[in-house]
Amino acid sequence: MKDIEYIKKYGNPQNLTENIKRLKNGDPVQYIVGNVNFYGLLFHVDKRVLIPRFETEELIEKTLTYLPSKKALNIIDLGTGSGCIAITLKHKLPTAKVTALDISEEALEVARENAIVHQTEIHFIHQSMEDTLPEYYDVIISNPPYIAYDEPIEEIVEKNEPHLALYASNHGLYFYKVILNQAIKYLNKDGLIALEIGQTQGEAICQMVSEILPHMSCWIEKDMQGLDRFIFIKNS
Ligand SMILES: C[S@@+](CC[C@H](N)C(=O)[O-])C[C@H]1O[C@@H](n2cnc3c(N)ncnc32)[C@H](O)[C@@H]1O
Repeated sequence: MKDIEYIKKYGNPQNLTENIKRLKNGDPVQYIVGNVNFYGLLFHVDKRVLIPRFETEELIEKTLTYLPSKKALNIIDLGTGSGCIAITLKHKLPTAKVTALDISEEALEVARENAIVHQTEIHFIHQSMEDTLPEYYDVIISNPPYIAYDEPIEEIVEKNEPHLALYASNHGLYFYKVILNQAIKYLNKDGLIALEIGQTQGEAICQMVSEILPHMSCWIEKDMQGLDRFIFIKNS
């Protein structure tokens, strides 16, 4: 569906003229309409959060097939943004305890709103994923910022979405190292790490896994476009 038709169908009809103006100004259609369908649930989005992507729906789909076999899983989503991963997982796994962490208080405001709309009990934490985590987890899942500072990206993304959600140092790899180091301390014995990655980062991250978590096995999976997009890490 073309953006303008999408706005007419899903946007507030009273704001139609203003919304078309925003579209012409280069605002993303999801921010204009104010929500996005993610894994069958509608999430409120605005400039405070990254717009959830199709690939992240695939991350969830795949993660659900690799979950440790335990009834009440303890799950943490590092860098929750709109809360799309944490809330969807809680929706699919009602007995799980789900924690959603973000360094951005603004993003957490949006995620809390979304958790209320979807009547999901999520434990929100406002802190950096680099800092001490409060518990041990069976699943550590994350779609961290992974774009290198010198990587060219679409203008609409660069101009509108929070840079805190996009960019990372060390060629975009910084947060993967942080997450793997956190897993040494906070991942339960038969736990799973599920990560969304940049399409060229797979090998470098698996190399990090072999150094930081040498007893665990790591495999890369592709997205629907055939690009390397996910890494799963488990005890072999
Ligand atoms: C790529 S976005 C992912 C948002 C959401 N999980 C999704 O998949 O749509 C990365 C998120 O990480 C957060 N973030 C950036 N640096 C962080 C840090 N040091 N600690 C925790 N969260 C951080 C950003 O605020 C952003 O919400």
